Amino acid sequence: MRHLRTLRKKLTCGAVRFLTIAAFFGVQSVAAQSIWEGGDVENGQNLFNANCASCHLVTDGVLAAPGLAGIADRWGATDELLVLWIQNPQGAAASGDGYIKSLVERYVGTYGWMSAQAVSADDVRDIMAYVQNPPDVTVTASTDSGCINIDELPVEEESDSSTLWFVILLVMFLLIAMSASGVNRQLTNTLREREGQAMLEDISYLSRLSSWAWKNMVFVSILGVFIVAFGVVKGYQGLMGIGIYEGYLPEQPVKFIHSVHVCENEVDCKYCHHSAYESKHAGIPSTNVCMNCHKAVKEGSRYGEVEIGKIYAAIGFDPETGTYLDGEGRNGHSSPQVSFNGAPIKWNKVHNLPDHVYFSHQQHVVVGGLQCQNCHGDVETWSAGRIASVDHINTLVDKYPGLIELSKPTLSMGWCIECHNKASIDLASSEYYEEMHNRMKDDVRGNEELRRILEDDKITVKELGGWECAKCHY
Ligand code: HEC
Ligand code: HEC
Ligand code: HEC
Ligand code: HEC
Ligand code: HEC
Ligand code: HEC
Repeated sequence: MRHLRTLRKKLTCGAVRFLTIAAFFGVQSVAAQSIWEGGDVENGQNLFNANCASCHLVTDGVLAAPGLAGIADRWGATDELLVLWIQNPQGAAASGDGYIKSLVERYVGTYGWMSAQAVSADDVRDIMAYVQNPPDVTVTASTDSGCINIDELPVEEESDSSTLWFVILLVMFLLIAMSASGVNRQLTNTLREREGQAMLEDISYLSRLSSWAWKNMVFVSILGVFIVAFGVVKGYQGLMGIGIYEGYLPEQPVKFIHSVHVCENEVDCKYCHHSAYESKHAGIPSTNVCMNCHKAVKEGSRYGEVEIGKIYAAIGFDPETGTYLDGEGRNGHSSPQVSFNGAPIKWNKVHNLPDHVYFSHQQHVVVGGLQCQNCHGDVETWSAGRIASVDHINTLVDKYPGLIELSKPTLSMGWCIECHNKASIDLASSEYYEEMHNRMKDDVRGNEELRRILEDDKITVKELGGWECAKCHY
């Protein structure tokens, strides 16, 4: 027994010693490794987008702070101070380091203090790996932004031409019919005059029309049937919602341009529509979110101060002094740039499903792994929000691998149903699905329907119940 205990003690001691040595070497190797080397670019990109992208660009451009291009060459303090600066800027400044002092003198007056970021030293290494090797930026920069704005593309005719042609044809038809009846009357009259008979009495157009209609019953009935059929088709299309939504582009209170933000300045959809990943709604960002950047970005290249000024008016911000107007100050304020109206920006809703339909963004974006573009098109080329047509989305398959091509009009019930029939579920995406799948495989004997479902080893949303009325309807 005692023997055993000492043996165990020896073993534990050995293990502890081994661990200590390992830890020592581990620490040594981490400390020896520079913060500018060996980071994971991909993880760095995610961390950068989540923590830094609201203020910094990875290029030279200025957002709400200096761009981080060339930071590896520029940074004049130690690695430890870099980490400390990011975790606690004021703390780093207190170190008295010369470079950091110059940083503070140069920028804090303009941009205010950088806010402390909850990232570890390893995170910083990954972020710096990304900042030094941003994958796409060179492409964007070399083509002078390379961003297209859909408003600068030729506009497609979207008027309902079938109705227009129908009306034109109908009017022409009536004119021909009426003038024909007029000519007919004149001919009859001349004939009668020559033969010395009494002229046709001068009757009203209406009674002339009705007597003409009686005489041309077959033709009139065909025309009638035609008009009724046209009405029925149009009414049906209206009821089924065809063409109601696609292309809808309402006026917005501020001329917000998606392409300027998403493409030119590389702001992720998630930055403004983060609730798409967490809830039913994607939501529209509040004015405070705009102010994260527009506190510093006071002018746009297209509309100058006009459109950005509307954000200031809504939130009560004086761009000249860089301060928020509060309480009394708001009313007594007399800056020519801002007339504070305190009314939040009221964005007009573009997409709007009827109340009886249940739709969740999180289910589609997170669980289903779908890209925003599959339902909304290439928003990074948009100005304001609009409803993309299915035909347009289908042209994007080369640009977005994995896009599911559909044919029914966007937002119609047929569209949801069609995709649920086509979209397959990645069973490996969650343990829940995997377990369910395995259980189904065990049950499969003697169950014809299950066998059919599992046959192609592809499970569609429909097969999991995505066609059940109650899934989409309250
Ligand atoms: C709220 C805005 C904001 C966020 C978020 C932010 N920074 Fe900063 N950063 C600044 C500002 C502003 C400065 C300039 C110094 C100052 O005014 O405090 C700065 C300076 C820096 C500098 C020094 C630049 C130079 O030229 O030497 C580095 C490096 C830096 N930030 C890294 C980061 C990293 C990495 C993140 C994300 C983990 C981050 N920052 C997040 C605002 C921000
Ligand atoms: C992550 C930073 C960021 C956020 C958040 C942001 N913007 Fe911007 N915005 C910019 C930058 C950068 C520009 C480009 C200025 C330029 O044209 O050079 C800009 C430009 C603009 C312009 C001017 C376009 C022009 O060319 O005149 C408007 C209007 C605008 N933003 C509105 C908004 C609104 C509204 C919000 C909030 C819903 C918002 N922005 C949120 C960074 C941001
Ligand atoms: C499966 C299709 C689908 C995908 C994928 C999708 N959306 Fe939507 N989106 C919709 C539908 C449908 C609506 C209308 C919802 C309603 O009216 O209730 C909508 C509405 C919106 C709205 C208006 C505000 C709201 O919440 O109703 C925004 C903003 C939006 N989507 C952004 C996004 C973003 C960003 C992504 C990607 C992260 C995305 N969507 C992915 C189908 C989709
Ligand atoms: C800087 C903030 C910002 C970013 C980044 C951004 N959006 Fe938006 N988005 C807005 C604002 C503000 C509106 C409301 C004004 C409008 O409809 O244009 C909007 C509207 C929309 C709408 C229409 C909403 C409705 O009322 O139905 C969709 C869809 C949408 N965004 C999708 C996206 C997608 C997809 C991305 C990424 C590719 C994206 N947005 C990136 C700010 C942003
Ligand atoms: C581009 C393809 C696509 C479109 C369009 C689409 N969905 Fe889906 N939907 C999916 C996928 C994929 C899933 C499965 C997500 C998962 O793995 O649970 C899903 C799941 C669902 C679910 C959950 C089903 C269940 O069995 O729990 C509902 C509810 C739903 N969708 C409603 C809608 C509605 C309403 C619309 C139309 C406004 C719509 N979807 C349009 C692809 C789509
Ligand atoms: C995948 C989601 C989904 C499923 C499953 C679904 N619906 Fe719908 N349904 C919708 C959407 C979206 C609309 C709204 C279409 C519109 O506004 O044009 C709608 C509209 C309707 C309407 C109203 C038509 C109108 O013009 O507003 C009826 C009725 C309806 N559905 C019945 C059903 C029945 C019955 C089932 C089951 C057999 C069913 N739905 C299954 C998504 C679905």
